[in-house]
Amino acid sequence: MDLSYNTNYPSIEDLRERARRRIPRFAFEYLDGGCNEDVNLYKNTAELREVELLPYYLKQHSGSDLKTELFGHVYDAPFGIAPVGLQGLMWPNASEILAKAAVKHNIPFVLSTVSTASIERIGELTEGRFWFQLYHPADNALRDDMIDRAEAAGCEVLVLLCDVPTFGYRPREIRNGLSMPPKMTLRNILQIMGKPEWAIRTLIHGQPEFATLKKYMPNDLNMKQLGLFMNQFFSKRMPESKMPPIRDRWKGKLY
Ligand SMILES: Cc1cc2nc3c(=O)[nH]c(=O)nc-3n(C[C@H](O)[C@H](O)[C@H](O)COP(=O)(O)O)c2cc1C
Repeated sequence: MDLSYNTNYPSIEDLRERARRRIPRFAFEYLDGGCNEDVNLYKNTAELREVELLPYYLKQHSGSDLKTELFGHVYDAPFGIAPVGLQGLMWPNASEILAKAAVKHNIPFVLSTVSTASIERIGELTEGRFWFQLYHPADNALRDDMIDRAEAAGCEVLVLLCDVPTFGYRPREIRNGLSMPPKMTLRNILQIMGKPEWAIRTLIHGQPEFATLKKYMPNDLNMKQLGLFMNQFFSKRMPESKMPPIRDRWKGKLY
């Protein structure tokens, strides 16, 4: 395997630090933080750190290969880019950038239902080399419409989310007044002013929006109405009975 390192950012921690310096705190904390008191976040990372690799010295070794076959496709690494909502808040066109990078490096990119790039846009950019994560809408007709859109965009795998019955309790977001679009409190304005490159790029690009969901939203919602819309849009707890219609409609690979 041919490995080359970025000399400026050789580790994930270097990249994390770079992001912390480049984007406003409310956006960074949204991405970097976990639910509640980050208990699970620490547990997950601690468990990963416990993995030990045992070397076998003085033995013949034919080289290592990270390639993994998943859903009939051989990927170059056994991991991919997980679905993250509101990616465009961290950086304009973040979803598009990540989707293209995933194609280039032959790893899966999973587009979130609540992303800032639409199914169609990502389908076009990746020529269908993407997965789509579906949060189940309360209205079955809208679910079918999203499934049809994913199919028309050439999506490779539909990823069904059934473990988020309600919004997580994220104290940082409450403290930061994070909503869509972000509340313009004095504190947030000061944070934006401290990150001029982010501010200018976001200004040029335009406010991030829920691009896939946009067509189901009434025009010109104010912030309160948008919150209400999002609350009513999703079915929250997903009973098993919602599965068969999805399996019937989506002919492709389902995760
Ligand atoms: C800021 C943030 C936003 C997320 N948004 C979504 C989402 O829209 N859809 C989804 O299925 N999972 C979402 N997730 C969950 C991630 O896809 C992933 O499953 C989770 O972070 C666990 O993986 P990790 O341990 O690598 O962080 C989000 C996670 C974070 C931290």
